[in-house]
Amino acid sequence: MNMENTTFFDFDMPVERRGTSSLKWEKYKDKDVLPLWVADMDFRSAPAVIDALQQQVAYGVFGYTIPHDALMEVVVSMLNRQYDWPVQAEWLIWLPGLVTGINLACRAVGDEGDDVMTAVPVYPPFLTAPGNSGRNLIKVPLKKRQNRWKFDFDLLESMITSKTRLFILCNPHNPVGRVYSRNELETLSIICKKHGIVICSDEIHNGLILDEDKIHIPTATLDADTAAHTLTLMAPSKTFNLPGLGCSFAVISDKNLRGRFKRAMAGIVPMVNLFGLRAAEVAFRDCSDWHAALLDYLRGNRRSVEKAVSQMPYLSMAPVEATYLAWLDARDTGLRDPAAFFEDAGVGLQDGNEFAGPGFLRLNFACRRALLLEALDRMATALNHQAI
Ligand SMILES: Cc1ncc(COP(=O)(O)O)c(C=O)c1O
Repeated sequence: MNMENTTFFDFDMPVERRGTSSLKWEKYKDKDVLPLWVADMDFRSAPAVIDALQQQVAYGVFGYTIPHDALMEVVVSMLNRQYDWPVQAEWLIWLPGLVTGINLACRAVGDEGDDVMTAVPVYPPFLTAPGNSGRNLIKVPLKKRQNRWKFDFDLLESMITSKTRLFILCNPHNPVGRVYSRNELETLSIICKKHGIVICSDEIHNGLILDEDKIHIPTATLDADTAAHTLTLMAPSKTFNLPGLGCSFAVISDKNLRGRFKRAMAGIVPMVNLFGLRAAEVAFRDCSDWHAALLDYLRGNRRSVEKAVSQMPYLSMAPVEATYLAWLDARDTGLRDPAAFFEDAGVGLQDGNEFAGPGFLRLNFACRRALLLEALDRMATALNHQAI
């Protein structure tokens, strides 16, 4: 049943998350701190997803579940339709989490003692995954040019060692909000190919492109050469707010790389649970209206954040092209611990140090607007007070 056509999606509706074992909200339980940290949204899921999961619960059987044909077809046709990417069902590998995929990529490529490169600041598990499998991490700093975070490809190439086997790419990039252009991806791919480096392309934020003049380009779609040395990680979890259901997938066209990835999984990676699989199918197939309304709402929140930050003393940010995360530059505040300062002011942001971005803060604006405005107001008041 398509529930979308006549439904108005009310993202302003308060949803009580306190007392629901929410990671985001439990951190500040019993405190007057508005949590704008971990990357989930405060919104209820799309009605079609809720409906499908309710039917699953009513059925009452929760046995081992395989990714059924309908789900495979939905994903294959979604990738074809959105990205002109002719994926074969056998290239898909289902995973109970995308971070699992990042760690598997580190294990599947190269050997212990090899180097894994990534561009910082970046989502924290990129920084810990290499060490989890005895690899060394090489962090290449992104550079801010014309108020956009960019790769410095000369620097990147100069930091490649003879032991560098894997580059973990985040596109769209959490936390700097970039949607990398074809040109940027091609340059990265050429460098990686030249040095025999596999790209692990984390594209979990692919459905959250906010700039209307930009599109997401899966790295593996650049050309056949790039596809052969790329493994892609995707999920419905960020776009459709399903992270608690633990469902994501890898797309690996190269048979050899796929084989190594599967061998790294053997015996330690469980099947995806049936709710995650069912939700993925419905989200990708039946929720385009909800998704469009969500993007619209997030664009409004982005405007609120950009406006408020531009009026705050000492705080600045680059435009957020994608994701619902703003990367705030607090270096001019002179604060020793900006995250603690804002926490004391009643706003829970994420400390840039966790992303290898000291002096920065990450703000998650995927919440109802009234709460966001209250948080921004608290931040402005605290900063203005501090500035006097
Ligand atoms: C870039 C990126 N990758 C992976 C994840 C998490 O994936 P999962 O919860 O499926 O492990 C996140 C969550 O914020 C993310 O931003």
